[in-house]
Amino acid sequence: MATLKVRKLKSFPAEISVPGDKSISHRAAMFAGMADGTTVIEGFLPSEDCLCTVKAMEAMGAVVEPLEELEGVGLVKMAITGHGPKLKAPSGPIDCGNSGTTIRLLSGILAGQDFTAEMIGDASLSKRPMKRVADPLALMGAKVEGQGEKICAPLRITGSPLTAITYTLPMASAQVKSAILLAGMFAPGKTTVIEPVATRNHTERIMSHFGVKWLRDGNAISVYGGQVPRATDIVVPGDISSAAFWMVAAAASPGQQITLKNVGLNPTRTGLINVLIRMGAQINSSETDSSGEPRGNVVVHGGELNATVIGGAEIPNVIDELPILAVAGALARGNTLIKDARELRVKETDRIAAVAENLRRMGVTVIEYEDGMEIIGGAKLTGATITTYHDHRIAMAFAIAGMFAEGETIIEGSECINTSYPGFELDLALFQKSDGGPPPIRVLSRVPRDVASRLREG
Ligand code: S3P
Repeated sequence: MATLKVRKLKSFPAEISVPGDKSISHRAAMFAGMADGTTVIEGFLPSEDCLCTVKAMEAMGAVVEPLEELEGVGLVKMAITGHGPKLKAPSGPIDCGNSGTTIRLLSGILAGQDFTAEMIGDASLSKRPMKRVADPLALMGAKVEGQGEKICAPLRITGSPLTAITYTLPMASAQVKSAILLAGMFAPGKTTVIEPVATRNHTERIMSHFGVKWLRDGNAISVYGGQVPRATDIVVPGDISSAAFWMVAAAASPGQQITLKNVGLNPTRTGLINVLIRMGAQINSSETDSSGEPRGNVVVHGGELNATVIGGAEIPNVIDELPILAVAGALARGNTLIKDARELRVKETDRIAAVAENLRRMGVTVIEYEDGMEIIGGAKLTGATITTYHDHRIAMAFAIAGMFAEGETIIEGSECINTSYPGFELDLALFQKSDGGPPPIRVLSRVPRDVASRLREG
């Protein structure tokens, strides 16, 4: 088990470039793998989660050529030659690791194939509910077999000729919406998903990017079956969910300023910026659009933060940022309330319980509710030993908390950070140096042939 030791914040880098967006990287690999030619993906996130998706597409006939590696981060540019939407049966189980996005979105793709495939995952993924995708995919005609009432992994999916459906999501979930839209690409006619609350729309945007026609009517999103994604190069922006950690560190540091370079600014993901502005931070961003996703530099000026209430329709937009927003709440004046966030209980771990437990260890009073928590802000944080429960966002949120605490904070089980942010420790080190010098230049290099074959073997 790896541990990460964090000390009080010493310096502030002027700028940071975070690695690629996790949600977009998964989708780019899936659509490229189902496309009619070769797609070059740049800015790819080479985290364990996204590499599971790449390996899955490779196991089902896509050809992956690694192109460039970023020092300290990994493979950031690759060419994927698609097998077309009808994939090849994999020779063994597909390992989805810790990745809910891999298993749920692939479920939609597998539902439309001519074979049976099994998906497995780590201990955390194997406890997460897959019934939410199994139910609609079974309605469309696929056979989905999992473990127990929650239909957990290992998940066996037998594809079949699918029937288009109209389905109202029982929970706000972009993963479930995406699984149904992906399956809809294999069903003759129009498949419609109605979402009660808007969730991230990366699947819709990437469908447009790959020439797959879909339409939106209010909160109903429809796709027509029988379309073949057209291979189109894509540049993935930096992940706002990774930038969030440094944004909160800056927002809670009066007099400090940081620029996050090239961050994804899709409005279904920028809720964190709105919440931090509400709490008193000054944040400016400049926006451009490329590969169908808005992006830009975000400048955060720190100040004294005030408590806020986070709930309702805002929740899906900040769902992955709630652990770090809870830390922001602890650093703010007043009591911050997070509500309507029951979904946090079925993430990589029960994030309500994990955040409450670890904040308490650092000296913060937290009242836990079934759908959220109230954080009593303004206490002096003390260094503590943090349990990550193998959840990357718990590990990183508490590394930031550690920078505001007296004494040392020890993050036990920090290896899970690699599921979404390779290079996090190097970026964290920029805040712990006493000289505060410029950030090191990371070298981008072509992947030599022998490394390319090693990467392919995993
Ligand atoms: C994701 C959707 C969200 C999010 C996850 C990534 C996606 O999950 O928490 O990290 O890429 O579609 P849900 O759709 O289950 O809320």
